[in-house]
Amino acid sequence: MTPIRSQYGSSADLDIPKVLARIHEEVRPLIGQGKVASYIPRLACVPANRFGMAVATLDGALYTEGDTDELFSIQSISKVFTLNLALEALGSDLWKRVGREPSGNAFNSLVQLERERGIPRNPFINAGAHVIADVVLSHTSNARQKLLEFVRDRADNQAIIMDEEVAISERDAGFRNFALANFLRSFNNIENKVDDVLDFYFHQCALQMSCADLAHAFLHLANGGICQRSGESVIKPDRVKRINALMMTCGTYDAAGEFAFRVGLPAKSGVGGGIVAVVPSVMTVVVWSPGLDEKGNSLAGAAALGRFTELTGLSIF
Ligand code: DON
Repeated sequence: MTPIRSQYGSSADLDIPKVLARIHEEVRPLIGQGKVASYIPRLACVPANRFGMAVATLDGALYTEGDTDELFSIQSISKVFTLNLALEALGSDLWKRVGREPSGNAFNSLVQLERERGIPRNPFINAGAHVIADVVLSHTSNARQKLLEFVRDRADNQAIIMDEEVAISERDAGFRNFALANFLRSFNNIENKVDDVLDFYFHQCALQMSCADLAHAFLHLANGGICQRSGESVIKPDRVKRINALMMTCGTYDAAGEFAFRVGLPAKSGVGGGIVAVVPSVMTVVVWSPGLDEKGNSLAGAAALGRFTELTGLSIF
């Protein structure tokens, strides 16, 4: 049991396993509801009736509940990892090529990009992630390997892989992403070949991880950029502030306002059904359930995170 300060008590001893078990029971009616992301054919066959949660704390504890050993496709959650790498490569010059405002549009929308002359609203919509992928490609000799090493080190799991079948499946059906990336290229906001940028992008989205892997991999964002295990600096504290702010305002796309209202934590979702939330200075909370709502966020997952902050008082507000 981890003693954690919560607004609901001066030093409330939160029984995290009990909280997770209670949430699992409460959201059970929602598990299996929503739709799995069938626009990526390989993901259409993932059973919707799965649910897992993991909490990793800064004192080194890990708590799990439900289907936490299963690996799933992290999809857009990977955009946080590549943003880490791109910020390290380019620093604040990155913001000349990508904005920092919520889009208010679907994550794969084309219209805004035309109006705003090829500068994507933020790094987490697909167009923004293509620019970020382009930056990583331009600054590394082997972008896939660099990303894999970063994620494996952060998660402390050298077995993490990119699922080739998922990547190919998305490439073969990725007409919207090809349209967006070609559009960006026409505005000179992509330097590398569109096929190379998208090859990297589809592979980053195809990272296969468990709830526990993700809980560990995001822990430096709850810890001022310091790796909780080794004490080494992963990214500078001011960049941690930026990434968490972007997760808060843009991490769940056009549901970010509702998500802030319900959950009150920086978070990033993916159409594989995962959501990672950061409780600064305390812990990371990960939930996975593949059934998605109409905005592309896990339906049971969002409800579970809402209950988590209600039951624990661990929101940033
Ligand atoms: O590009 C896509 O559409 C997917 N590979 C990723 C989208 C995604 O995960 C959006 N998340 N909610």
